[in-house]
Amino acid sequence: MDQERPGTGITTQGITTYSAGNFAAEVRAGLSREGQKELPSKYFYDEIGSALFDVISLLPEYGLTRADERLLRRHSREIVSKIPSPVTVAELGSGSGKKTRWILEALCARQSTTYYPIEISPSALARCELELARMDCVSVIGFEKEYLDGLLEVASRRAEGERLLLLFLGSTIGNFDAKAGLEFLTSVREVMLPGDALLLGTDLEKPIFQIIAAYDDSLGVTAAFNLNLLARINRELEGDFQLSRFRHQVRYDAQERRIEMHLRSTVKQTVTMRRADLAVTLEMDETIWTESSYKYTLEQVVSMADATRFRCVSQWVDQEWPFAQNLLIAQ
Ligand code: AVJ
Repeated sequence: MDQERPGTGITTQGITTYSAGNFAAEVRAGLSREGQKELPSKYFYDEIGSALFDVISLLPEYGLTRADERLLRRHSREIVSKIPSPVTVAELGSGSGKKTRWILEALCARQSTTYYPIEISPSALARCELELARMDCVSVIGFEKEYLDGLLEVASRRAEGERLLLLFLGSTIGNFDAKAGLEFLTSVREVMLPGDALLLGTDLEKPIFQIIAAYDDSLGVTAAFNLNLLARINRELEGDFQLSRFRHQVRYDAQERRIEMHLRSTVKQTVTMRRADLAVTLEMDETIWTESSYKYTLEQVVSMADATRFRCVSQWVDQEWPFAQNLLIAQ
């Protein structure tokens, strides 16, 4: 049965798919690759990483999160008006839940709503639950799970005739390359029914200097966010990375329209991770690729929808920081 925490009315489904075993296996795979070494960006968001990301979203250079939230604040009523009642809301990677409040408030005007945040970061999930717990018209049921596992769980609880509004905000889709993004949307679509809605946030093309500054801010918060991945490996996998021997590096690939974050080794060095049963040698100037963040055009989002049995029915674009909310309806 669900564990209800006294006094909050919040329920968290306690089955955690994240485990040190998973983390160790993915770290081992990424760092033992031939050629470019990699680490998966989803592991940025431990308690420190989630807090650093919240700071990033306040930086003057990083307009993405503010644009995302502005669009939701300005257009949530119109967005919600395009989805018939009754509707249940789920979100992939809820983060702090701050942006989602606007959508839930708009829905509250017509119905009380169940909201399922799906999040692998327990600290982000806890904050999201607290942020939204005070809303009387919303019951929050959090899932500490990977996206697709959580979505399957939500789908299995859905009542007859109920629509699903799935939120995938913040341009998190941009962490997938084109092929993986299409595969992911296809898997999401398979769990949805015709008429269900996916609200997809996408960061748009903009001048290169602006994109680079957003990922290489002058305070060094993004550098700390990036380096924290190594610090997390030290903490959780008994690693011996010396952070001072690595530098945050940002590259923009104009062909692919993606920003890349790397960690560059400033010397030739060998690092061990005892709990991953791993020793890795890095050459001087060799990098570990930690994140891609793709930038989109509006047309590209429309064709991604078409290719995955969705139809893009509306796009709202922020004028200050090119970013789009795209409403996709499952066909
Ligand atoms: C939350 C994945 C959208 O790619 O812009 C911010 C993460 N990385 N600064 C992004 C991030 C570096 C962010 N997403």
